[in-house]
Amino acid sequence: MTDGEYRRQHRTSIDNPTAFWAEQAEALHWDRRWDSILTHDDPDGAPHWFAGGRLNTCHNAVDRHVEAGRGDTLALIHDSPVTDSVTRYTFRELRDATAALAGALRAHGVGTGDRVVIYMPMVAEAAIAMLACARIGAVHSVVFGGFAAPELAKRIDDARPKLILSASCGIEGSRVIAYKPLLDAALEGASHKPEACIVLQRPQCAAALTAGRDHDWREAVSAAEPAECVPVAATDPLYVLYTSGTTGRPKGVVRDNGGHAVALHYSMRAVYDMGPGEVFWAASDVGWVVGHSYIVYAPLLAGCTTVMYEGKPVGTPDAGAFWRVAADHGVKALFTAPTAFRAIKKEDPKGEHLARYDLSAFEALYLAGERCDPDTITWAGDLLKVPVIDHWWQTETGWPIAGICRGLDAGLDVRIGSAGLPVPGYDIAVVDDDGRPLERDAIGNIVVRQPLPPGTLPTLWRDEDGFREHYLARFPGYYLTGDAGRIDADGYVWVMSRIDDIINVAGHRLSTGAMEEVLAGHPDVAECAVIAVADATKGQLPVGMVVLKAGVERDHDTIVEELIARVRSEIGAVAAFKRAFVVARLPKTRSGKVLRKTMRAIANGESPAVPATIDDPAILDEIAGALGATETG
Ligand code: COA
Ligand code: AMP
Repeated sequence: MTDGEYRRQHRTSIDNPTAFWAEQAEALHWDRRWDSILTHDDPDGAPHWFAGGRLNTCHNAVDRHVEAGRGDTLALIHDSPVTDSVTRYTFRELRDATAALAGALRAHGVGTGDRVVIYMPMVAEAAIAMLACARIGAVHSVVFGGFAAPELAKRIDDARPKLILSASCGIEGSRVIAYKPLLDAALEGASHKPEACIVLQRPQCAAALTAGRDHDWREAVSAAEPAECVPVAATDPLYVLYTSGTTGRPKGVVRDNGGHAVALHYSMRAVYDMGPGEVFWAASDVGWVVGHSYIVYAPLLAGCTTVMYEGKPVGTPDAGAFWRVAADHGVKALFTAPTAFRAIKKEDPKGEHLARYDLSAFEALYLAGERCDPDTITWAGDLLKVPVIDHWWQTETGWPIAGICRGLDAGLDVRIGSAGLPVPGYDIAVVDDDGRPLERDAIGNIVVRQPLPPGTLPTLWRDEDGFREHYLARFPGYYLTGDAGRIDADGYVWVMSRIDDIINVAGHRLSTGAMEEVLAGHPDVAECAVIAVADATKGQLPVGMVVLKAGVERDHDTIVEELIARVRSEIGAVAAFKRAFVVARLPKTRSGKVLRKTMRAIANGESPAVPATIDDPAILDEIAGALGATETG
């Protein structure tokens, strides 16, 4: 293994994080240098990076490249098979578009520290919206378009935005999904009322604008004075991104400006082996962390061209869509979720579409967002004949915790099934439930030794106590990732499962607890449980089990249909909640704890050891029967 540079950088980043990150920070433009690289006075809290420093993230991602003479280089390519269009922005054009929108925000009174909610489909304007907020020091909070109005309302109430940026519609495959009615419903339901909404009218669907509150995007932009970049404190928030926790209340992950820019810039070379002028494509959505970090910020910070794709891996128009985009734009590296490749494999198992395209510029495929099955990795590698790299990270960290740092050592071994080696900055350990470090290869809680590296969350939005409780209190001195797994003798990390009720559906992170809250709200439901079952394409799918209130005699199929519709309208289509059934009782221990783990195992065809404390063992057979599984051990 030729892993000298990787090992050297990883060791330095752990032994001497201050020197390591100071060196990385030099690559960016600082309006004021930091007073201190790393401040970690309170061991029970998060570290703070680059305190005293001032910079602007949009300047570093966009204007800096124009000033360096790269204004005519392509910054962003928006490729949209669903509207049959490709739009290209050079760094100069991106700067001008961003400055104009930032001016419109400012004209509406948005200033440093004000929040702006962005509820938009995968249009170039969504990226421009994020950068425009960053430009004037406003804090954006992007809400994924697949969430329904009540989820949007929760985020509006928590973030309390001064203004909302939205669009008339998104396009999902061949369907036009009107966004504005969802936004209107969310604003109706939210207690917080923003002062204004700026809405991008798309030709596929015109949105009705509410007089006095809603404004047309193009008019707002053309009337505005372009805004310059405003330097902010490195420790000021750049954005809040809500992610699923274990309950219906999403967690507002905060990202700072300085640490984020430094870490993301570093990751482009170290993890993805990308440099200025090269084309990077993260096939995700700006509503997820992958979209924030690797569609928008990281590639632009590194001076790469980023591809923003409004389409699907299959059906827009066929399973060759990814190869078409990669070939048309000379993509060097693609990053997506394994589920996208499973969808392609299912439609085109022999990869016949690939023969139509020239992928000579394509060098590596990166997968993350969910556990990747070895078959998919092998299939993709055999077909594309490039390294396929599984890597592991989460909304909270914002950039990879483990992976194969090809930019540091091209010869690093990939181990199929493992998420790779700790990325420089991350000191990963596996501990038992009492926080004791485990031997190599033993399975336990995967944790990161403090201090967390730059770019990781400094807190949760308006919830410092929750931040400490969720992530830092369980094992003092460590950040709890919420994932379980092991580290092998050579240091490779194997991520196996979550230790909580978070599930991963088509690479989308969802909370079974949130779905249970929705089911429990149905008037006929006495109690319920939602578990994830394995799915060949989406990785996991939620299944609900409900116990009806005594005396309810309505048809079970009707109730199930209502439950499915309820999750769709309360949480959103993205929950992919399409299966539920009525049971007589839920399996519980005698003390009343629902045996979710046992049910999960049954659903996945395993034969779990049934806890001796189970109240009524026969119920497991009923559940196994309903799930189509047979054994209960
Ligand atoms: N706006 C509105 N609705 C959306 C949406 C959006 N931005 N994104 C998804 N939805 C809807 C879908 O249309 C679908 O609705 P349906 O139940 O009416 O069919 C539902 O939410 C579930 O979406 P999804 O899980 O994405 O399923 P799909 O069948 O549409 O597509 C894949 C399956 C595998 C092709 C798709 O999930 C995919 O491309 N995944 C790539 C991975 C990815 O983007 N991961 C993000 C994190 S890296
Ligand atoms: P998200 O915050 O949506 O990015 O989801 C993060 C979670 O997805 C992690 O905590 C893991 O449970 C899972 N995940 C992400 N990447 C991987 C991976 N490469 N292997 C296994 N699980 C992963």
